[in-house]
Amino acid sequence: MDKLVIEGGRPLKGSVQVSGSKNSLLPILAATLLTPEKCVIKNAPLLSDTYTMLKIIRNLGVAVEMDGNVLQIKSGNFKKYVAPYRLVSTMRASFCVLGPILARLKKAEVSLPGGCVIGVRPVDLHIKGLKALGTDIEIKEGNVCAKTRALRGKQIFLGGAFGSSVLATANVMMAAVLAKGTTVIENAACEPETVDLANFLNKMGAKIKGHGSPRIEIKGVKSLSGVEYEVIADRIEAGTFAIAAAITKGEVTIKNINVEYLSALIEKLEDAGVTIKRGRDFLFVKRTGPLKPVDITTLPYPGFPTDMQAQFMSLMGIASGISVIAEKIYPDRFMHIPELNRMGAQIFRQGPYAIVHGVKSLNGAPVMASDLRASAALVLAGLIAKDKTEIFRIYHLDRGYENLDKKLVQLGAKISREKQ
Ligand code: UD1
Repeated sequence: MDKLVIEGGRPLKGSVQVSGSKNSLLPILAATLLTPEKCVIKNAPLLSDTYTMLKIIRNLGVAVEMDGNVLQIKSGNFKKYVAPYRLVSTMRASFCVLGPILARLKKAEVSLPGGCVIGVRPVDLHIKGLKALGTDIEIKEGNVCAKTRALRGKQIFLGGAFGSSVLATANVMMAAVLAKGTTVIENAACEPETVDLANFLNKMGAKIKGHGSPRIEIKGVKSLSGVEYEVIADRIEAGTFAIAAAITKGEVTIKNINVEYLSALIEKLEDAGVTIKRGRDFLFVKRTGPLKPVDITTLPYPGFPTDMQAQFMSLMGIASGISVIAEKIYPDRFMHIPELNRMGAQIFRQGPYAIVHGVKSLNGAPVMASDLRASAALVLAGLIAKDKTEIFRIYHLDRGYENLDKKLVQLGAKISREKQ
């Protein structure tokens, strides 16, 4: 197992190219199961989550070829309909093969993904949506066993206790594209990754309207064809670099991005006193003065993303005052607090709120990564901490960031990857 060793205190300078979006790619890979024809997916980030999804698809009997960031997938007439626990349990997003397998084979068996360190994470909305389309679902030995005679379009309200669901919207949308009649998803996720998936499906011949709004309408079609498609840039990676520039008092241009997807974060960074210049497909981020404390509340898109909460907390950790961070998507997503506090931060948790008392500086320490975004928060803290920070269990980071450490080194950070 590797660890990261960071010597903090260097302002980042230069420009960085953002990779393709993990959260776009994973459902799009599942969607390739909807056509027997070949799909070519470009700008695929090379991450351990990508490899996990490809394993699940290959395990169904699907042909996958990889050439750098280009993937070729041809599902042909695959017959296997089971995604087993040993594969699904390592990554929740793999649950979104359920809708496409069901749509193609009329039956599917996908292991329940279980909880994870950021919270309970149920799949009731996925199940509710697929049931509404005419699927019989039973849970047997921890597996969701789904079968249908024919999927039929329906009006479905897809809202839970915490609002819309990105992957439930994806699962239902992918099943509905091959259903008979029209499906309307109310309270659909509006995330850019949901839009990217709908764009991919429409390019395959699906008839989806309203994506990007809370009401998505899907007219079922008989079949879909293979296409070439380029996934959007990763807005969370882009946001992480924006905070890296801000926290280190650096000056960084973040290239190859959809700037409009970062509005909530950009506003909050500007409120904190960070200078931002927006280009058509790039952001320039610079900080010279002190950081002002800013409150955030995580919400479904276009609200502040929960996937940026941990990183923003690191930034507020050195602001000149108190900020309040409200986590409204995953109320337990605070595993990074004790680790940041080990580095000298003063952060107190009260239920779904974190109260951050900004301190003048952080100190290097050995810390433990608990999940993907928490790992990124620790890297950001390490970039400004005095002395050496060692981050253990960085396999979490490799699940979702393509070469984060190498890209940071190119911007002037001192980071090495060593054996644990
Ligand atoms: C996706 C993202 C993840 C991000 C999350 C929220 C991918 C691969 N992952 O995860 O990075 O943090 O969106 O933006 O795209 N919920 C239910 N019932 C369900 C499903 C979800 O109650 O059936 C709840 C969840 O527990 C959570 C909220 O709804 O409180 C939103 O979760 P959801 O949007 O489903 O997250 P994912 O799609 O799993």
